[in-house]
Amino acid sequence: MTLRILQVGLGNRGTMWGRIIAHHPRVAFAGIVDPDPARVSAFTQAFGDIPSFSDLGSALKAVEADAVLLVTPPNGHLDQARCAFAAGLPVLAEKPLALDMDEARRIVDLAEATGCRLSVCLNFRFLPVSQEIRRLVADQEFGAPGFGTFNYHRNRDWWRPGMNKYPLTMRYPMMLEQSIHHLDLIRYCYGREVEAVSCRTWNPSWSVYAHDANVSCLLTLEGGLEVNYLGTWTGGWNELKFQWRTDCERGVIVQQELFSDLATARTEDDALTPVRLPPCTPFVDDTRMLLDAFVEGLRGEGPLPCTGRDHLQSLALCLAAIESSETGQRVDVREFTRRHGIRRMS
Ligand SMILES: NC(=O)c1ccc[n+]([C@@H]2O[C@H](COP(=O)([O-])OP(=O)(O)OC[C@H]3O[C@@H](n4cnc5c(N)ncnc54)[C@H](O)[C@@H]3O)[C@@H](O)[C@H]2O)c1
Repeated sequence: MTLRILQVGLGNRGTMWGRIIAHHPRVAFAGIVDPDPARVSAFTQAFGDIPSFSDLGSALKAVEADAVLLVTPPNGHLDQARCAFAAGLPVLAEKPLALDMDEARRIVDLAEATGCRLSVCLNFRFLPVSQEIRRLVADQEFGAPGFGTFNYHRNRDWWRPGMNKYPLTMRYPMMLEQSIHHLDLIRYCYGREVEAVSCRTWNPSWSVYAHDANVSCLLTLEGGLEVNYLGTWTGGWNELKFQWRTDCERGVIVQQELFSDLATARTEDDALTPVRLPPCTPFVDDTRMLLDAFVEGLRGEGPLPCTGRDHLQSLALCLAAIESSETGQRVDVREFTRRHGIRRMS
């Protein structure tokens, strides 16, 4: 049976979602929602005549839907989730679920209180390269991981046409829009929680962002695994450079491109050996796999992916890192989650 999705938000990411849903064999559009008529018009021109609305409340009264997809900026997610849960519908929300802990926790609590399922779109978990790093670490192919370095350098010019604009003016755009993916991958691929974080965020003089576009963190994970993270949207060179290296007892695991290019070496090897990965179009195939898992989760055919409760741990990590930067202190992430009323995942 086809899952009828009500898509809320038709901007840059919403258009990617449009392509995924329009070509998906198990889902279809119940309707679309966006207050901007130009966005609605561009979307229907691209994906056909879909019932369209300027607000979610009207859409929920008018169409029959099986799930709501939120592709709106995070500051509207609480109200939108509340409407969807009141209608008894599950929600798949884009990251971050919210910009503060209280709002995110309220969304997750509401989902649980109403018995509605909630997933958050951490699509990079589904990249073949992420799946393979997770497997290599879990199987201890090179022994226990001891430390990692995760570096993401980009000069991202958000003034270009076609880019979303709200990160230009929000607080902590790098941490809450981008690093959240990276810190989530660190939790997911290493299969363990972060115990403590020391962080510094800052904004270089030439940044086009109103607030900090650089993040540097030292993360201590369970089992004594230490990870050094650097992420920037204001690199001095307009060329994306990425490397995630994990040093283990008997070798290294190195991801050399943002979405691909994995290689490994044993300690005594002269050179890295590439790891074969299936082809994948980033943002599309990984998101489609997440959607597949979401549909299976709703149908009871598998576990629900990237649950809201799991996402609280990644968001808490970002917000604990921000607290560390603001106070100049190392923050105990377990204490931070307790203080904000977040249960640890079992
Ligand atoms: N998972 C990923 O890989 C990925 C990639 C890009 C963006 N995102 C996320 O997707 C979300 C949207 O980002 P974007 O780049 O599409 O932003 P955008 O600014 O391009 O689009 C947002 C759209 O939401 C609409 N909107 C705002 N309030 C609304 C409301 N109350 N009801 C209905 N529509 C409303 C706006 O009119 C706009 O069309 C963000 O949370 C962002 O972090 C995720």
